[in-house]
Amino acid sequence: MALVSAKNMLEKARKEGYAVGQFNINNLEWTKAILTVAQENRSPVILGVSEGAGKYMTGFNTVVAMVTNMMETLNITVPVALHLDHGSYEGAQTCIDAGFSSVMFDGSHYDIDENIAKTKEIVALAKSKGISVEAEVGSIGGEEDGVTGTGEVADPEECRQIASLGIDMLAAGIGNIHGSYPENWQGLDMKVLKEIGETTNEIPLVLHGGTGIPDDMVKEAISYGVSKINVNTECQLVFAEATRKYIEEGNDRIGKGFDPRKLLKPGADAIMDVVREKMDMFGSSNKA
Ligand code: 13P
Repeated sequence: MALVSAKNMLEKARKEGYAVGQFNINNLEWTKAILTVAQENRSPVILGVSEGAGKYMTGFNTVVAMVTNMMETLNITVPVALHLDHGSYEGAQTCIDAGFSSVMFDGSHYDIDENIAKTKEIVALAKSKGISVEAEVGSIGGEEDGVTGTGEVADPEECRQIASLGIDMLAAGIGNIHGSYPENWQGLDMKVLKEIGETTNEIPLVLHGGTGIPDDMVKEAISYGVSKINVNTECQLVFAEATRKYIEEGNDRIGKGFDPRKLLKPGADAIMDVVREKMDMFGSSNKA
């Protein structure tokens, strides 16, 4: 199956009360692990690519070629969107040209007027090619791939304005943080999320910082319109931990499991477990 825009899969999720997982990819092993589980679970999936990860994989054209060819070879029939995560204005345009099926333009660090103007331009470009667009209001806290947000809570009126620009999904900061949550974390601001859900005309909402949000908060957020949840750090942590353990057990020696294909397998298996668990938690399994 060819890549699809995230629009239909997220509208269906919003209507039926579950969320589609966005799992970020960094290399071939991660991509294969996530696609394999999506197919096994009969779940729609969004592959997220940050600009840093795109550069690491030698550019967005390489990413599109890797993902589309892998989908064909693995015979992936569930809906898959390839999505730019936290894109800059220039990055979003490059991904639209490269063949991504979905882009996020993160204009949350601009003032609201500039965020609106730039989001509109990206929407016009993307729509002409059937590509879905995510916009952001109120930055997400923490650091991801060198992009740091202070974590302000979004203003529902600004959310309403951005949601009316023809975007397909809206990320709103509601106390969520990229990476691990600190011990004294106050939790998601459900009051603001509920208000945003009510003022944005049923648009699918996006919850960034999906690592470590407790099950009950995830369920409550979905009930207020969250239809896409992003996960990255948890995959990084289990991948590193499984690889470290494998090496510590002496498997990096000739005659043991030093072959890089074997060396990276425990990490990829650990990512598969995370993706299975999240798809069940988000309710997207058997929804393809
Ligand atoms: P985590 O790294 O906290 O899982 O968040 C991922 C994310 O929001 C990507 O945009």
